[in-house]
Amino acid sequence: MNDGSWVKVCRADEVEFDEPKQVTIDGVAIGLYRLQDGCHALGDVCTHAFAHLTDGFVEDDIVECPLHHARYEIRTGKSLDGIAPSDLTSYAVKVKDGDVYVQMIGATNSGEGGDTPAEPDDDAIASAVLDLLQRDAEADEWRAVLAPHAEFEVLNGHLSGCDAVASRLGDTRTGHLAWKRLDRPDFVLVGEPHTATGDRGMALMLAIENGLVLRVSQQNLAMPPRPAMPMVMDAALRERIDNSLAAKHPIALSYVDPEGRPHLSLRGSLRSFGDDRLAMWARSADTGLAAAIRSNPQVALLYRDEDTRATYQLSGRAHVADDEPTRRAVYDAMPKVERDHDFAMLGAAIIIELDLVEGWAGIGPTGPIDPVRLVRT
Ligand code: FES
Repeated sequence: MNDGSWVKVCRADEVEFDEPKQVTIDGVAIGLYRLQDGCHALGDVCTHAFAHLTDGFVEDDIVECPLHHARYEIRTGKSLDGIAPSDLTSYAVKVKDGDVYVQMIGATNSGEGGDTPAEPDDDAIASAVLDLLQRDAEADEWRAVLAPHAEFEVLNGHLSGCDAVASRLGDTRTGHLAWKRLDRPDFVLVGEPHTATGDRGMALMLAIENGLVLRVSQQNLAMPPRPAMPMVMDAALRERIDNSLAAKHPIALSYVDPEGRPHLSLRGSLRSFGDDRLAMWARSADTGLAAAIRSNPQVALLYRDEDTRATYQLSGRAHVADDEPTRRAVYDAMPKVERDHDFAMLGAAIIIELDLVEGWAGIGPTGPIDPVRLVRT
């Protein structure tokens, strides 16, 4: 901190009417204002949350905070409307030989409740950002908390510069989410959707330095569960399953053997069997999958088309069908290559009663295409 002598901060002609100028003395941000009676200096950080008043609006002898519009008297620093809890520090100013000098020691707060305003601190900035998110703030308000070279990053995207980042944040809808800061030393803000809206939440990680936000990193939260629909696979989904082998997207199936060991296998012979079941032919009736599901019927399946990013997770209960009409129907539904491996029909017809089908037919610019969540009730 300075020893109390006057500190030269700039040329007098750099301080214009209605255009406050920010200077820094020993790390303290100070706003310089020109009024009809000369130059005035105030602490530049709003005592309400965090914003620089030199980013605000000057009218007559009043400055208004850009964030929540607290107003202060420029000549005294007095807080005028109760939004800000305390006054700004007012510094003595003199102009000599065309230079502006500010005196740090002996600075005053005017009016009542004249506590020394808080230095800009990282927690206050994080709180200010939370407030902006909750209010769906415009780009202009975001500019007040961003560093000139602020950056924004999101999966597959990057922006540089205060204006670009402020525009992005100003255009992003955030006010519909419930925001909180995580209880950890860094600055991670999480916005969660209110119940049953089907919205997706997001998290923002802030890098803060010298009282401003340097970088905002955004990631989307996992999709909330979609509303359940009855277990009825539509024709498009059934066709996707029936063509999985021909389309080179064989379905992965998992099951657990009698010893409790999990197994995964690719099953090109899986077919839809009605609108709520799958069927397949297992070449061995006594080992492998057929033996496993006799002790544990629970199975899970995964379909993925990497080209369109269509993805479906399915689960249900499997059993071996022993009646001849079902065995014949399943066998006849198998691809020729599968039947040719078992001319004598020595294998087992396996039926999977689906309990859950979740997924989407692809990923488009706005997210999952035709998402479904089918649940057997
Ligand atoms: S009014 Fe200035 S930060 Fe809220």
